[in-house]
Amino acid sequence: MDHFQYRDGVLGAEEVPVPAIAEAVGTPFYLYSTATLERHFKALDDSFADLAHLTCFAVKACSNIAILRLFARLGGGADIVSGGELYRALAAGIDPGKIVYSGVGKTRAEIRQAIEAGILMFNLESEQELEVVAQCATELQTTARISFRVNPDVDPQTHAYISTGLAKNKFGIPIAEAPAVYRRARELAGVEIVGVSCHIGSQLTKVSPFVDTIDKLKKFLARLAADGIAVKYLDIGGGLGIKYNQEEPPEPAAYGAAVRQALGELDCTLILEPGRVIVGNAGIMVTRVLYTKSGPKSSPENSHNGQKKFIVVDAGMNDLFRPSLYDAYHAIVPVVQGDGATQTADVVGPICETGDFLARDQEVPAARPGELLAVKSAGAYGFTMASNYNSRPRVAEVLVNGTEFHVIRRRESYEDLIRGEEIPAFLNRS
Ligand code: LLP
Repeated sequence: MDHFQYRDGVLGAEEVPVPAIAEAVGTPFYLYSTATLERHFKALDDSFADLAHLTCFAVKACSNIAILRLFARLGGGADIVSGGELYRALAAGIDPGKIVYSGVGKTRAEIRQAIEAGILMFNLESEQELEVVAQCATELQTTARISFRVNPDVDPQTHAYISTGLAKNKFGIPIAEAPAVYRRARELAGVEIVGVSCHIGSQLTKVSPFVDTIDKLKKFLARLAADGIAVKYLDIGGGLGIKYNQEEPPEPAAYGAAVRQALGELDCTLILEPGRVIVGNAGIMVTRVLYTKSGPKSSPENSHNGQKKFIVVDAGMNDLFRPSLYDAYHAIVPVVQGDGATQTADVVGPICETGDFLARDQEVPAARPGELLAVKSAGAYGFTMASNYNSRPRVAEVLVNGTEFHVIRRRESYEDLIRGEEIPAFLNRS
């Protein structure tokens, strides 16, 4: 359930009509609902209520500091993958003792930054990284808490680009080789083994890959115990999918129940790294129709489905990359419901690339120039994957709370676009 509903034919975000926000901030913009964010965070978190656990929101999914603050107030921590995400999490007031740091390519500078911040745990992805973390911690005269991300070779049955737990993926340490790496870590000064971690992929729509992974992790924990290594944290990553179209992902409660059953007795704290399931359907992107146009009246390619139709909107692939990158489906609905007429069309942006589309051959409103459209399920990996391609300023982000709305990131200006650029003196000489 989300709080984007029609009232008298006009889409509202909680109590605020979307056209009023468009009037105030211009288009395009991302729009998030506080009530939906809270509801989704709690739905996931409550599914593990009877277990010692920590919900570390995956910052990469939606990294605005206002939204991170909202989760911090609900007791959430953060799963970060860069120094920039650490900076954001701390700026948002997330307790460093609730931050876990994943990723295969942490630099020395990032590692030092995280050690100095006192994060809960590094999820290490290689033996070389272990050596660097141990060195950095020793130099800083402290100890870094670590876990290893193990790669269980489980097929998450999702898009190939967002599958991470297969043997052929770059992530983690092969589970069969991990005991030796743990034994090596035990001997090193500067690190303290506190956990085991795993993340097999994103937008999973079945529980079975999670359950298979947990079975493997349990065996792995037993193996470590046999080597005399006990851990305080088991981090099972994120990955629970959401409904974009026809998918029927398990509800958080069903996911929680399946995970708890697979875990059985667990004498450590469970760490979760959910991203999409919390923010995906708590955000939309609002765009305005600029023009409509059609392909040739008769083209052999289109003869079976009539004339190709295009709706050109003011948002492009630089604003929402998922359709271009993954062929992802996002429902597109009218902000003001007219006669309800729909058509099969491509919704395309202003970018000079054929791959610049928000929808392709999709059933969308028969919208006219000037009308507003809402691109749904845009809260996760929407703004965070936006770029300045074609020198387009990144759009505004707005957060609704009941009857109020707040711009939580202002639209970039042209000055923002060239900030940091310089013309060297030799180019000024005649
Ligand atoms: N933990 C780790 C280590 C991750 O790499 C990810 C996502 C998550 C947690 C959160 O996964 P979630 O709960 O959101 O599925 N850009 C893609 C998704 C990439 C996901 C990358 N890792 C998309 O737009 O679909």
